Order: sequence, then C-alpha cells, then structure tokens
Amino acid sequence: MEKDIFAVHRPQWRTHIGFLLAAIGSAIGLGNIWRFPYLCYKNGGGAFLIPYFLALILVGIPLMILELGLGHKMRGSAPASFASISKKWEWLGWWQVIFVMFGIVLYYSVVISWCLSFLFFSFNLGWGNDPNNFFFHKFLMVSKSPASLGDLRTPIIFSLLLVWLLNWIIVFKGVRRGLERANKIFMPLLFVLTAVIVFWSIRLPGAKEGIAIYLKPDFTRLRDVRVWMDAFGQIFFTLSLAFGIMITYASYLPRKSQIVRDSFSISFINCFFSLFAGFGVFSILGYMAHATSVEFGKVVKESIGLAFVAYPKAISMLPYFPRLFGVIFFAILTIAGLSSAISILEAFSSAIIDKFHYSRKIVVSVLSVFGFLGGIIFTTQAGLYWLDIVDHFLTQYGLILAAIFECIVLGWIYGVKKLRTHINHYARWHLGRWWDFSIKFVSPLILFALFISSLSNEVLTPYAGYPWLAIILIGRDWLIYTLFFAIIVAAHPWRVEPRERESSS
Ligand code: PHE
Repeated sequence: MEKDIFAVHRPQWRTHIGFLLAAIGSAIGLGNIWRFPYLCYKNGGGAFLIPYFLALILVGIPLMILELGLGHKMRGSAPASFASISKKWEWLGWWQVIFVMFGIVLYYSVVISWCLSFLFFSFNLGWGNDPNNFFFHKFLMVSKSPASLGDLRTPIIFSLLLVWLLNWIIVFKGVRRGLERANKIFMPLLFVLTAVIVFWSIRLPGAKEGIAIYLKPDFTRLRDVRVWMDAFGQIFFTLSLAFGIMITYASYLPRKSQIVRDSFSISFINCFFSLFAGFGVFSILGYMAHATSVEFGKVVKESIGLAFVAYPKAISMLPYFPRLFGVIFFAILTIAGLSSAISILEAFSSAIIDKFHYSRKIVVSVLSVFGFLGGIIFTTQAGLYWLDIVDHFLTQYGLILAAIFECIVLGWIYGVKKLRTHINHYARWHLGRWWDFSIKFVSPLILFALFISSLSNEVLTPYAGYPWLAIILIGRDWLIYTLFFAIIVAAHPWRVEPRERESSS
C-alpha cells in the first residue's frame, strides 16, 4: 500500500485541550474586544444579539464543522485539503491563505503594535489629557488623505518589529512547542485578565447605565439590512472562518476526534467571550459618561477610537490604580491579537510546507520578514486610511466570496454527505441531515444575499466618504492579483501528491 507521507510527517497536537485553546485563540482576537461591543451598541443594543446568534447558528457553526471536518479528513492545510478533493480546486485553498497572509495579517499586526505601544504608555498614562489629539496627531500623525503617505512612524515600526518577532518565535517552534504551548499560556491569562477588568469595571459608578445601554433592545433597528450584514460579517471574522485557518488546525488532530462537539465549543466560547468583554467595555464608558456628565452617545466611538481614545480617557479618570488598569487592558488586546496573528502565519506556512516540503524554519522566517515589510505601508501617516479600506474590503467581500466558493465546492461538487459520514464515524455527537441542507442551501444563499447588498450599499453610500469607485477598483485589482497568484501556485506540481483519506485510515 502506498505510504501516507502526509499523515506520517504531519505534526499533531499534544493534547486535545491544546487544540481547543489554539482554535479559540485564533477566534478570540481584537474583533471580540473592540469590534463586537461597538457593533452591538450601533445596531440596536440587545436586539443585535438576535441576528448575531442567528448568524452563529445558521452559518457560523455549520461552516466551522465543515472546515474542521475537511482538515481532519484530508490531513492537510487548506490548499492540500482542496487538492485532495480535486486538483481543480486547489487554487481556492491558496486564495484563502494568500488572502489572509497578504491582507489581514499585515494590518492586524499593525493594530497589535499600537496595542503594545499603548501598553507601554499606560505605565505613565502617556496619552495625557487629550487622548484624541494624542492618538491621531501625536502617535499616528494622520495625514490628510490616503494618497499622502507622509513619513514612516518610527515608534510604530519598532513595535511592529517586536510583534513580528513574537509571531516568528512562536510559529517557528512548531505546532506543539510553539502554537500549543503559547496558547496554553495566552488563553488562561486572557480569561483571567478579562475577568479582572470586567469585575473591576462593573463596580464603578455609572456602570449600570452603561450596561443598560449596551443591552437595551431596540427592535426597530432589525429592519435595517445593514444590521444583518454587520452580524453575519462579524460572525465570519470572529470565528476566523474562510481563511483556511481552522482547516489547518484540524489537520493536526488525531483520528479519533470530536469534530461536532469541538465546533460548538469553539464557537460558543468565542461568542460568550465577546458578550462578556462587552460588559467591561460598556461599564467603563458608562462610568466616563457619569463622571463627565456627558451624554453616553458622545463617549462611544468607532472601534478604533473606542480602544485608543475613549478607553485611555476613561483610564485616566479612574479613582484607583489607573496605570494598572491600562496595562491589563492593553495586555488583553495584545494577547488576543497575537494568538490570532500566529494562526494566520501558521495557515500559510503549513500550506507551503505541504506543497514544497521546505523546512518549517525557513518558511516561517521568510514569511515573517515579508509580513513585517508588508505591514510598513500601515505605519505611514496614511496608515489609518489604508487599514480602514483594506479591512472593510477584505471582511465585506473577500471573506464572503471565499466562503461562498467553499460551500459550493464542498456542498455540491465534493458532496457534503461524504464529509458528514467521515465526521460521524468518530463522533459521539452525531451530525444530522440538517447540516447538508445548511451547507448546500442556507449558507451560500445568505452569503450571496449579503454580498449583493454590500455591493449595492457601497454604491449608494460610499464607505466612510471614500470614493466608491476607487475602493471597488483597488479591491477588484487586489482580488484579481491574489487569484492569479493562487492559480499559479496551484499549477505548480506537488512533491508528494495529496489524496483523499478514508475514515478508517
Ligand atoms: N478572529 C479574529 C478576531 O476576531 C480575527 C482573525 C482574523 C483571526 C483573521 C484570524 C484571522 O479578531
């Protein structure tokens, strides 16, 4: 019998909890702490939880099961897994990992580097009395438009270098000694620190009012399609779906694994973490509104402003240990961000290693250098604009397109039933036929509707005042280049051909 080189050489998680913590670490990221609470506030408070949890159940969990199931069955990174189905679909796996490696992780690491800088500023409340001015004009020195790049911001570059050094060290050491070990430290630390911040904040005066605003449902907002788009977009982003990450992480699982149960655990823990962190965020904003007698609506800022302007302002006003609070808060953001960034680096590295059989050490080192260099555009004075445009484009379009293809290829072409049989072969929680229906019909249709409404929205209301034509053109070019790149890499021959694996193997 042909020797299964993939399975023999494939690293494996040392423990099941190690895998769970790594997957949760990828899911819980900056998006849970600064994006979710803000979206909730903007989109009808408690009423937003309805589309959010519907999105989780209808698309989030089914796709999580799909990705974990695929990686587990094929024992390969995203490109290897798709290539095992058919060489025709290998490009899709490359497209996904190229997308995140040359898109999301570049700016995501820059935001982590801001968090790291603010962690250091916390030691002496370095943002002073006017955090707004500090963040935009002294720290970022934002230029007038995306076209005027201005100078590189040296302090941000140094901090970015540190972030990439950490990404590099962790992924360089491999699945067990790097990713698993790091997440075993990061995740418990993250949970403890978040609990400290939440319990500290909810005791402050004004916290109750803040929480009431966070959760008070305004059901009329549910009539707005943008609320639904935000909910579905957030679920994808927050669960790290359609990036090839969960496929890769599941490929390191042993044969006897509980895919369905793990998918539910990862997804629910991630979403409850968001809800929980929201209590902390809103309590402190409530406190600030209370202390300054300013109307609540004025203290809540857009996501970036929330973490880097509103929060520092509130921290400086705390009656006890403001510095300690600041250090903990920015440490939470940094840890949450790092555990997500390393998952992206791993997904891409694993793809290259599978296909070309280069050594992990070389692949990870080269990619880390590219990652650092690629992030430099976001450290210019126009960095904030670029970050905003790229983030908007990738999360609203790239992700959704990749997910639609994933549903079509696996649901219709490969046949989702085969995957369900594989998953159920080991599962104590059996996956019913509802899942086939969800992957074949519900998810792609919802995603398609979302894609179309995002596109029409772009034309009707240009994103943040940027000319929509420019955004669509940049986005279109970017999509075409990445696709081109994906197809070229996919056409390259394999050192060892990937193949489909039987359930009992
Ligand atoms: N899930 C992460 C978050 O919510 C984001 C992320 C994006 C992680 C891309 C991995 C890849 O912040």
